Amino acid sequence: MCGIVGYIGNRRAVPILLDGLKKLEYRGYDSAGVAVIEKEKLYLNRSVGKLHMLEGRINGNDHQARIGIGHTRWATHGRPSDSNSHPHTDCTGKIAVVHNGIIENFLELKEWLEAEGHVFQSETDTEVLPHLVEHYLKDDLLSAVEKMVARVRGSYATVVLSEDHPDTLVAVRKDNPLIIGVGEGEYFFASDIPAIINYTKKVMVLADGEIAVMTTQGIRVYKDGIPVDKKIDIIDWDTKAAEKGGYPHFMIKEINEQPRALRDTLTGRIAPDYSGVELKEVNLTDDEIKRIQKIAIVACGTAYHAGIVGKYVMEKILRIPVEVDIASEFRYRDPLIDENTLTVIISQSGETADTLAALREAKNRGARVVAITNVVGSSIAREADDVVYTWAGPEIAVASTKAYITQLIGVYILTMYLAKSLDMIPKEDMENILRHLYRLPNQAQEILDNLSGQLNEIAEVFKKWEDAFFVGRGLDYAVALEGSLKLKEISYVHAEAYAAGELKHGTLALIVDNIPVIALSTQPDVFEKTLSNIREIKARGAYVIGVTFEGDTELKKSVDQVIYLPQTLPLLAPVLTVVPLQMLSYYASVHRGCDVDQPRNLAKSVTVE
Ligand code: AGP
Repeated sequence: MCGIVGYIGNRRAVPILLDGLKKLEYRGYDSAGVAVIEKEKLYLNRSVGKLHMLEGRINGNDHQARIGIGHTRWATHGRPSDSNSHPHTDCTGKIAVVHNGIIENFLELKEWLEAEGHVFQSETDTEVLPHLVEHYLKDDLLSAVEKMVARVRGSYATVVLSEDHPDTLVAVRKDNPLIIGVGEGEYFFASDIPAIINYTKKVMVLADGEIAVMTTQGIRVYKDGIPVDKKIDIIDWDTKAAEKGGYPHFMIKEINEQPRALRDTLTGRIAPDYSGVELKEVNLTDDEIKRIQKIAIVACGTAYHAGIVGKYVMEKILRIPVEVDIASEFRYRDPLIDENTLTVIISQSGETADTLAALREAKNRGARVVAITNVVGSSIAREADDVVYTWAGPEIAVASTKAYITQLIGVYILTMYLAKSLDMIPKEDMENILRHLYRLPNQAQEILDNLSGQLNEIAEVFKKWEDAFFVGRGLDYAVALEGSLKLKEISYVHAEAYAAGELKHGTLALIVDNIPVIALSTQPDVFEKTLSNIREIKARGAYVIGVTFEGDTELKKSVDQVIYLPQTLPLLAPVLTVVPLQMLSYYASVHRGCDVDQPRNLAKSVTVE
């Protein structure tokens, strides 16, 4: 996620802006910039890379400015570069804008603005914003920003600076956070509290659709042109707590960011009439798609588990054979890959050595490679032929959560994209699946709102148990693998995932009285079979926690606890089923006093073989 800061007051703006951006570094970024006004002249400094690169560009020459805006960019549209860095300006260079979010209709706006004579300097979606303000600016900056907002679809937190209004900042937000800091004769904008907590603990949180006008005289907030009376909150966090948004760990913060991550990853990709999927970074022609005879999915760890979900989903919808490989195995097994194989590479970091090597192996054998990755401009993104970005924002905790869930979205939307081209799915089925996809963010929010107490209580069992099993069939088995890895890697409990029908072929010998078994049962076509497996386990004394959809009345008769999920299509169940498993693992780790965010022996990105 990008970081935004703004300042107006009686102190030099640049040091405050840079300090604020430094406090937002934890959000992850690949470039940075500031824009300030001094003596009614706007000065812009931007640099790809880390903040020290920007400081080198500024080189202490801060123009003694008392007003400015700053930005750290996490690339979504357009690779990391100086010209793609924020702030972005209009044609005259007199209007500067910083933005966090995704402008869904930027292409149509850019075309319209270019037809109006505007000249663009970057590949970003953001750059349409200063040109819109330029187009509408007559004498009042607020009304120009209101007109800009009226043209934009998508998500944004944005602050506008104008050379012709040297004592004013105007900000607006929708679906992305923006807070206001209230100091003594000075005011701040920021994406998050850490950026301003050293200057003031008095904050106002802008709500969606509210526009704030900031001058040294104070703040005015409007919604639909009507003044809004904002209350001031007093923040009692320290800086470290503030970086986690008040959560005790990055992992639980990122688990709770999943509804937004899902929403962002779906934004702009589902046709408004649910007739299909649009993937701007995938350039497969219909002929190329029709020539696909096999799909090879390759990844590591959690991404590999997303790939297993992909296998079930793609084979069911596309009726094309799908192989899933662990990258470190794939590259050495002389894989049967050729020009008729579509290789799907999944990687949060886009830098995992084994996965990158597998990508190169597949390309050497003539395959077309599509990457599903979370980092724009990463090695895997650059070397793939096509990319489906997951817009989860930077994932700080070593244990992957929001990246996994958005990788699943990547798999679903790629599948629907291919299905449309192959004419493999009736119109009403496409619409039904896409409508249910669109509901998932709110349903994930329901789980987060309603199940944490129950899951925290269940997790107490891991205070005394060193072993656990996750079982399921079909897509539930794929998610069981991920649930097992989560529990292992952050609580050090030795968990195993098993296909529910396979347990009796040996491993059932390990089922003893009270051993925790998480039994996933969301797939109706194998529900009865799974139930009989669960009864086998229960008959041997296990403590069984069942996971099923709301409305099921059978499972509770055969287990000790039931976790109920909001109803969705069985095909999409993994996106919701995994959330309670992530939460269960998190609470188990906390109960066991483990290092949740930095588990022993592990690294966030495994860039060595
Ligand atoms: C996820 O919880 C793990 N930390 C790990 O398995 C990770 O998924 C794996 O290393 C792959 O990383 P990537 O997605 O960045 O390629």
